[in-house]
Amino acid sequence: MALHKGTLAIFENNVGVSDAVLLEPLTETVFLENLKERFKHDQIYTYIGSVVVSVNPYTKLPLYTPAVISEYRSRNMYELPPHIYSIADDAYRSLRDKNLDQCIIISGESGSGKTEASKLIMQYISEVSGKGQEIDRVKEQLLQSNPVLEAFGNAKTHRNDNSSRFGKYMDIEFDFRGDPVGGVITNYLLEKSRVAVQMNGERNFHVFYQLLAGADIDTLKALKLSRNHDNYEYLLRSGCSQVDSMNDKENYRITTKGMQIIGFQDEEIFSTFELIATILKLGNLEFIHRGNLDGTDGCEINSKYEMEDVCELVDYPVDLMTAALTQKSVETRGDRVTVALNTADATYARDALCKAIYSRLFSWLVSRINDSIKVKGRVQTKVMGVLDIYGFEVFERNGFEQFIINYCNENLQQLFIELTLKEEQEEYVKEGIEWIHVEYFNNAVICDLIEKNNVGILAMLDEECLRPGKVTDSTFLNKLNQTCCNHLHFESRGCRKNQSDRSLPHDAFRLRHYAGNVTYHVTGFVEKNNDLLFRDLSRAMYSCGHPLLKKLFPEASPEEVRGYTYQQWSPLPMLPDNEGNPEKKNRKRPATAGSQFKLSVAELMKNLQSKNPNYIRCIKPNDGKVAGVFDVHLVKHQVRYLGLMENVRVRRAGYAFRQLYSQFLYRYKMLAPQTWPQWKGEPVDGVKVILSALNISKEEMAFGETKIFIRNPRTLFDLEERRRERMHGLAVDIQKTWKGYRQQKLYKKMKISQIVIASRFRCFWARKCFLKKKKSALIIESYARGMKARKLLAQLREERRIYLAAIVIQKYARGWRVRKNYRKLFRKNAAPKIIRYLRIALRKRFLLRLRDNLPSESPSFKDWPKCSWLYKEASEELRQIFHKWRCRNYRQKFNQSEQWSMQEKVAASDLFKGRKATYRRSVPHPFKGDYLNLQQNLKWKKLCEQTHDKYMVFADIVMKINRANGKMVQQLFVISTQAILIIDHRTMSVKYRIPVSQIRSISLSPFLDKLVFFHLKKQDNGDILSKKGDFIFSSDHVIEIVSKAYLLIKNISEKPPDVIIATQFCAEFKGSNLEVTFKQTPITPELSPGAVRIQRKGSHFEVLVQPRSAQTSISTDTLNGDSKQHAQVAVN
Ligand SMILES: Nc1ncnc2c1ncn2[C@@H]1O[C@H](COP(=O)(O)OP(=O)(O)OP(=O)(O)O)[C@@H](O)[C@H]1O
Ligand SMILES: [Mg+2]
Repeated sequence: MALHKGTLAIFENNVGVSDAVLLEPLTETVFLENLKERFKHDQIYTYIGSVVVSVNPYTKLPLYTPAVISEYRSRNMYELPPHIYSIADDAYRSLRDKNLDQCIIISGESGSGKTEASKLIMQYISEVSGKGQEIDRVKEQLLQSNPVLEAFGNAKTHRNDNSSRFGKYMDIEFDFRGDPVGGVITNYLLEKSRVAVQMNGERNFHVFYQLLAGADIDTLKALKLSRNHDNYEYLLRSGCSQVDSMNDKENYRITTKGMQIIGFQDEEIFSTFELIATILKLGNLEFIHRGNLDGTDGCEINSKYEMEDVCELVDYPVDLMTAALTQKSVETRGDRVTVALNTADATYARDALCKAIYSRLFSWLVSRINDSIKVKGRVQTKVMGVLDIYGFEVFERNGFEQFIINYCNENLQQLFIELTLKEEQEEYVKEGIEWIHVEYFNNAVICDLIEKNNVGILAMLDEECLRPGKVTDSTFLNKLNQTCCNHLHFESRGCRKNQSDRSLPHDAFRLRHYAGNVTYHVTGFVEKNNDLLFRDLSRAMYSCGHPLLKKLFPEASPEEVRGYTYQQWSPLPMLPDNEGNPEKKNRKRPATAGSQFKLSVAELMKNLQSKNPNYIRCIKPNDGKVAGVFDVHLVKHQVRYLGLMENVRVRRAGYAFRQLYSQFLYRYKMLAPQTWPQWKGEPVDGVKVILSALNISKEEMAFGETKIFIRNPRTLFDLEERRRERMHGLAVDIQKTWKGYRQQKLYKKMKISQIVIASRFRCFWARKCFLKKKKSALIIESYARGMKARKLLAQLREERRIYLAAIVIQKYARGWRVRKNYRKLFRKNAAPKIIRYLRIALRKRFLLRLRDNLPSESPSFKDWPKCSWLYKEASEELRQIFHKWRCRNYRQKFNQSEQWSMQEKVAASDLFKGRKATYRRSVPHPFKGDYLNLQQNLKWKKLCEQTHDKYMVFADIVMKINRANGKMVQQLFVISTQAILIIDHRTMSVKYRIPVSQIRSISLSPFLDKLVFFHLKKQDNGDILSKKGDFIFSSDHVIEIVSKAYLLIKNISEKPPDVIIATQFCAEFKGSNLEVTFKQTPITPELSPGAVRIQRKGSHFEVLVQPRSAQTSISTDTLNGDSKQHAQVAVN
């Protein structure tokens, strides 16, 4: 083996050569050995330039973890070992950063890992692109489309337990930030024949098994299904219903969950499963022979219950459905005739119906998913297409499907050749390098053989299908023999060149594909190309009540899509599978399956050409689907038909290796001292410096505009080897430097620490010494100060002693002098002087003490400081002066009205204190004066204007006593500053106006009664008052009335009136004298104290007064004594 193990590795830990372009020598064996070697070490990916070759490991490898994804994120392709993530990242970054639409073409045979690869790409893109609620929703929907489409479009085959039975091209659309915003899925040619027939050991589409295994019992009941697969003909025949690697129950959950996430309504999901159930039920229909009256063969349906279930599921009458399945309508010259079907035709029609329903359901699913994932709003998008399409297929018996699939693969190969060559060529031209043409097999000639207009195999097939008359598969083969026999890549027993080729059956033709020879049996070609469905069945489907089924057979304008008239094709009583509403008369011949596929392949190729291609070539290592087995023959076959060797050769034709100058310089800069560690100039000059330093011959390399090209891989290995050695050296250097640096750092750290510790310690030590010294200094200082202070104290004491001694001496001296003078000057008049001096001093002390201890200034305060008996008299006098002074101060604080009130109260006190029993009760009550608020009375205001009594001092209702009989009358009693007014309180008319000057005296009893006598002066002017005599009133405010009247009279007439308080006095009544006597009655409990009873007996006017109680009654004698005194108080 020519592998340079270890030394060939571009990357350390790599096994073999990670880029096959660098293989030396480049032979198929070395290429395969390299793949095998890498495969054995779980390195399943290998590059051919920018193409990734992936070998299916058939086991889970730890290559797809989030850590690996982040490793590959934004890294250049050659920086890390080959990986699908690397190509995905490259494509994603070109799309995002260079604004180039990308496509990733994944090819390989069935089971080689295409679908897994496409999922890995989607996973990677999802991980590395932006995040956000809306973006995550889009990503989740795009990812969830996989399990849903796999459930409906994948099936277990001999080659793959999860084989995609349709081609899928998915455009993922990104916004300007590189975040996915939506996508479009295009599906190609579903293998619908699998619905009705599967090969032994294979299975129908996964969804049938998932539904039966995973749906709960209620759902199954609603769908009229039972869980057992063996109850269904379509699942039973192949003899395989269980796949070990599949968990149908769990997958059912994943599929329905996926549908929900994509946005399918619950009703839509249920409708979908209803159609799946309908297909299973239809498959169970059994047709039995029935002879018609006209002798032809007919049939009838034997399984009535299944039929009823089907009709219930699709909501269609049983008789109509029965008719549609067992009869056909034929139109001949405008007439419609119904013809009965025999059992074979009915079975065929039923299968065709099931296939049609399923394939349309699948297309509807794709379009429904597209509806959900399409880009919302008008966003300018960049596109990354991922193509996961069936690989080249060669079976023992190959039919129409294999022919179509291999035709598609021929086109893809053509595209691959064109794009890789073009790219290579363009690169050389762009870089200004001379390009040497490399021979390779161009399969355009095979593509032409199949698809060329008018002469291609597909055109022949269409022509045969359209031709009037009897058309069979053998007439089609004959036609091929006539037109294609001369073609180098066509072989048939009908051709002269292959007449004796026994390996070629008579009903088959062979094509020499780029990937090998494939023999196709023509049986079924015409029928499958026509892809027809009985008109009655399609009409029935359109007419049934099931909303989704109705939608699957829509009313459409056939003219738009079909280019042939019905007449040309008549009298076939069938419609193509994609026929629309049968009510709409369709006269156009629909496109055949072949031509439709050709169109869609052409469209796909156009689409792929418009994008920047990225290739993943998948290889299946063995047929047993087992891990670790590398079947060299099987792989060799795939390597050949995938054209991988050619790919490597083309890539190596000019120069085996190329790299941007900057990248090359970055990788090999350690190989020249001038470029290490940093090159300051242009990268190209740096590269030149490196290469000349390494003595690499000029022929070995070419300098392009931006890249360095290296012709021989050996040179690159040399470079790699030197780099590896140099890296070792550098690693040692780095290690050395690092260790040195670390030690130095450690040393510096220790040094710094040592300095810090030392400085801290020194600081601590110095501080300690300083504190000690300071303490000592303080002690010394305190001792010194103490000594000094003691010295000073001693000195002061000495001075004091001297001073005191001097005073004593002075005293003695003075005493001696005084004593000396005493006798002759002082003795005879000293005593009076001393006494006087002492008296003055004592008086002074008395007065000063009195000054300092003066009592409160309140007049009611009685206390007075005690003093020596010597100054008792002076003290009393001073006390009185002080009292008067404080009374004066107290009075001076009053305003006018308060002074007046005070005067009144003083007058009352002077007049009544100890003389009138009611006085004591009056003391706490202020003399309010106007008890009736008369000042505000309007009538009074008017009246007082007239009588000039504006200044009123008292007003109240009093009792006027009639002296004739002692009866009492209520009158308004007013005292103004001028007169006393007796007013009728009802009419407010003045009865009497007694000028105060006319009042001579006022008499009262000492008892509790409220009577007052006003004695008037005698006048001879004959006025009414003189005639009437004295007035007697009874009032609650008798003390106030008398006090106020007393002060008024005193003010006006200078001489105060006499106020007589006595039990007996004289009064005058109409000119005659009346003797008034007051007596206290014995206590009568029912009478209140002070109540009076008045009796007039001639000139005697007796007033009996109810006393308060025995104790409180004032003795008459006591009061009699007093009554003699007439109150005459001067009020200041
Ligand atoms: N990278 C991988 N790691 C582990 N197993 C893998 C890998 N790729 C593929 N496989 C296994 O191989 C099986 C077949 O792969 P996949 O379905 O992708 O093949 P395919 O090329 O799509 O086939 P078909 O053309 O039939 O659809 C998978 O089910 C899986 O078990
Ligand atoms: Mg697949």
